[in-house]
Amino acid sequence: MPSSVGAPAPQALPDARQRLAAHLAGFDVQPLRREFAEHGAFLQLRDFLTPEITAQLIAAVDCVKVAVHRNYLPGHKQGGSVSRHAIDALAPAIGELYRSSALLEWLGQLAGERLQVSPPKDPHAYALYFYTRPGDHIGWHYDTSYYLGRRYTLLLGIIDESSCRLDYELHTREAGAAVEAGSVLIPPGGMVFFDGDKLRHRITPLGAGEVRVSLTFEYVTDPRMHPYWRLISNMKDAVAYFGFRQVFRRLVPRRARRA
Ligand SMILES: [Fe+2]
Repeated sequence: MPSSVGAPAPQALPDARQRLAAHLAGFDVQPLRREFAEHGAFLQLRDFLTPEITAQLIAAVDCVKVAVHRNYLPGHKQGGSVSRHAIDALAPAIGELYRSSALLEWLGQLAGERLQVSPPKDPHAYALYFYTRPGDHIGWHYDTSYYLGRRYTLLLGIIDESSCRLDYELHTREAGAAVEAGSVLIPPGGMVFFDGDKLRHRITPLGAGEVRVSLTFEYVTDPRMHPYWRLISNMKDAVAYFGFRQVFRRLVPRRARRA
């Protein structure tokens, strides 16, 4: 069971979902859908969230700082992470935004298929990534789906006072297609959206005196997962991201609890 904190959880974003729904209605989805498909299931928008929602997310980041779990995998990644379990305890408004039906429907239009939220036990369903020490980065990888269906990633910029870039390669798994390389900054309020098994990507190392915080939302087309792959996925999340405590016991760190 998730541990509880003594003090009331931070206030939910009262109208963030309504704001987001109204904002999303202003996009012309069809050209974006075409662009997403032409790029092999990848899209970037520099101005995605409204400034108000971005500001609310920046405030939420402050609430979870005590739960950051740092890890270091030589040659692959270095940085801090906060799982959905800790977010639920410390900044539940983020989960509310994740479950926004308007967002789900809008992203489903881009993907061209119905999307669903990840199961409650998935620590990656929504998570925050902290790049705060020089050299924090993640090397080339795919956001592999262990689910029976596809896994899509929405990566949102929250704080970016850094030179970090998302480097990516499109069409790497399309027979006969030419690989197309790119590199983007993701400013606060900006987003990238992609099929995790199609986009090869990395985040370049943080420089001295820099800071970067991003938020990911993970959506799936079929939330079922074989127990074996659930174990593999949890082990990977425990070692590479959130620690065993957040993944297997769904506990926020002791220092995050309040008397
Ligand atoms: Fe990734």
